[in-house]
Amino acid sequence: MQKRSFLVSVFLVAVVGARAAPVRAEATPEAAAIERGRYLVTIGACNDCHTPGYAQSGGATPEGAWLTGNGIGFQGAWGTTYPANLRLVTQRLSEDQWVARARSAMRPPMPWFVLNSMKEDDVRAVYRFIRHLGAEGKPAPSYVAPGEVPATPVIHFEPVVPPVPGQPLVVNDAG
Ligand code: HEC
Repeated sequence: MQKRSFLVSVFLVAVVGARAAPVRAEATPEAAAIERGRYLVTIGACNDCHTPGYAQSGGATPEGAWLTGNGIGFQGAWGTTYPANLRLVTQRLSEDQWVARARSAMRPPMPWFVLNSMKEDDVRAVYRFIRHLGAEGKPAPSYVAPGEVPATPVIHFEPVVPPVPGQPLVVNDAG
C-alpha cells in the first residue's frame, strides 16, 4: 500500500511538473523573442555606438545601461550625428513604426544598410528586447548640419595623414 502511494506521488510530481513547464517565463514566445533580441543586439554591435563606454569596457557595461544613446557626436561631411537613445525611441514608436524605421536610410556612421537586411522577425525581436529593458536616460543631442558648430565633443570621421612633428595635421579630403 505504501509502495503504491509512493508511486502515485511520483506520478503526480511528473504530471504537475510537465504541466508547469509551458508556463515557465523563458518558454513563452514573448520571452523567446526578448532573448533573441538580446542576442542580436549583442552580436549586431548596436552597443558599440548606442551605449556610452561599451567598447571601452570590453562589453562589460551592465544591460541596464545599454542603448541609452551617446552625447559624443560623429562628425563628417554629413554634419554631426549622435547615436540615438533606443530605450526612448522604442517607447515612442510602435513595433510596426520601428520596423519601418529599420527599413529606412539613416546618416553615417549608422550601419542602416545592415539593419535594412535584418529579417523582419529579428527586427521585431530587437524591438521587444529594447522595450523590455524599459525607458532610461535622456534623448541624444539633435543632428547638427554641416558647417554648424556642435555643443558637444565630437569624433572626427575623416582620414588624417599621420602628423609630421612641427607641422599641422593634413586632412585627406579625397578619402
Ligand atoms: C557605428 C555606430 C553605430 C552602430 C554600430 C549602430 N548605430 Fe544605430 N545609429 C547611429 C547613429 C550615429 C545614429 C543617428 C543617425 C542619424 O542621425 O541619422 C543611429 C540611429 C539609429 C536609429 C534611428 C533612431 C531614430 O531616432 O529614429 C535606429 C533605429 C538605430 N540606430 C538602430 C541600431 C541598431 C538596432 C543597431 C545594431 C544592429 C545600431 N543602430 C548600430 C550609430 C550606430
